[in-house]
Amino acid sequence: MIDLTRARNETPGIRSVAHFNNAGAALMPQIVLEAVKTHLDLEAEIGGYEAARTVTERLEGVYASLARLINCSPREIAVVENATRAWDMAFYSIPFRAGDRILTSQAEYASNYIAYLQVAKRSGAIVEVIPNDAYGQVDIEQLAKLLERPTRLVSITHIPTNGGLVNPAAEIGQLTRERGVLYLLDACQSVGQMPVDVAAIGCDLLSATSRKYLRGPRGVGFLYVREGVLEGLEPPFLDLHAATWVAPQCYELQPTAKRFENWECSIAAKLGLGVAVDYALRWGLETTWLYVQKLGQYMREAVSELPGVQMHDQGRVQCGIVSFTLAGHTPDAIRQCLSEQKINVNVSRAPSTLLDMTYRGIQDLVRASVHYYNNLEEIDRMVKALQAMMHEVRV
Ligand SMILES: Cc1ncc(COP(=O)(O)O)c(C=O)c1O
Repeated sequence: MIDLTRARNETPGIRSVAHFNNAGAALMPQIVLEAVKTHLDLEAEIGGYEAARTVTERLEGVYASLARLINCSPREIAVVENATRAWDMAFYSIPFRAGDRILTSQAEYASNYIAYLQVAKRSGAIVEVIPNDAYGQVDIEQLAKLLERPTRLVSITHIPTNGGLVNPAAEIGQLTRERGVLYLLDACQSVGQMPVDVAAIGCDLLSATSRKYLRGPRGVGFLYVREGVLEGLEPPFLDLHAATWVAPQCYELQPTAKRFENWECSIAAKLGLGVAVDYALRWGLETTWLYVQKLGQYMREAVSELPGVQMHDQGRVQCGIVSFTLAGHTPDAIRQCLSEQKINVNVSRAPSTLLDMTYRGIQDLVRASVHYYNNLEEIDRMVKALQAMMHEVRV
């Protein structure tokens, strides 16, 4: 059970909006906001470097918190600017050669796919898309078949940017482990939303962000690199933090995943991320995940009863992201109309997940994403606002 009253009391933003853009950037809890602001105040008061020195231990604690969150060692964590940079640092450190196969998912995020295309152009690596099963998620049997031939990397998006689908990450991990194939998981939308355990999933590399379901500040994300693969990966960029210049012709890489970081970063954001992770852990990811799924399902069912609606969520397991279109109204018009009533949703467009949206013939859709601090009244308010919009079109 969740103490919803407390969750809402600790979230200042709920007083202004019904926020269903948690897959964009969730509302920060007060405690996270305070951590960020307090550090910025300190920087202004005593200087940025000096302020950083006062929080050395707390900064190290951020790695321990993230390690607890995803069940790994703090040495396997790198904190970077965002999920994309985390993912890039992992992906571009893999030494691809001509003919190397990269297997990926149909609902892959654009930034990842653009990177595949660039690497394929440069190195001659080959990108292959794993077909979906009847639920619209990665087809495990098809993946097993594709893995019968030598494969350099399996790279999957756990929860796609444009809908409620949760890909079967652990089943994929079982196959990659059996075949000894490197496995990179884009967990940008799942970390903070559901329990994510890298040991249970069996991925070698995982990227995530702070601002989405973790409810941390913007401008920070993190990468997990399994100790067993760390030694073999040299990041594409190195600075004096990632490596040490030990002799005129020689540098040594950091022995930990910090080799994927760079020196300059927002200390306030990093501290805020740590506080957000501890806060999420106190609620308990198992507990909040159940509640997010329940709210998502409630919203999905309520929206699906609207006249002229088309629901777009796929997957055997569905999350707190609800995607739909309404006849007679563009997703942008819906977002704008709801925004005027202080209800936040977002629009996902075809270029963000081009293969998936093209295959399904969708140009753009409304993405409404719930978090555990939302409630049924807010959802009812959104559905009523949509009903009113549909009514306008009929009269
Ligand atoms: C599936 C997925 N991967 C990666 C990203 C990129 O995250 P960031 O903006 O933190 O780089 C997003 C952002 O929407 C996403 O949905």
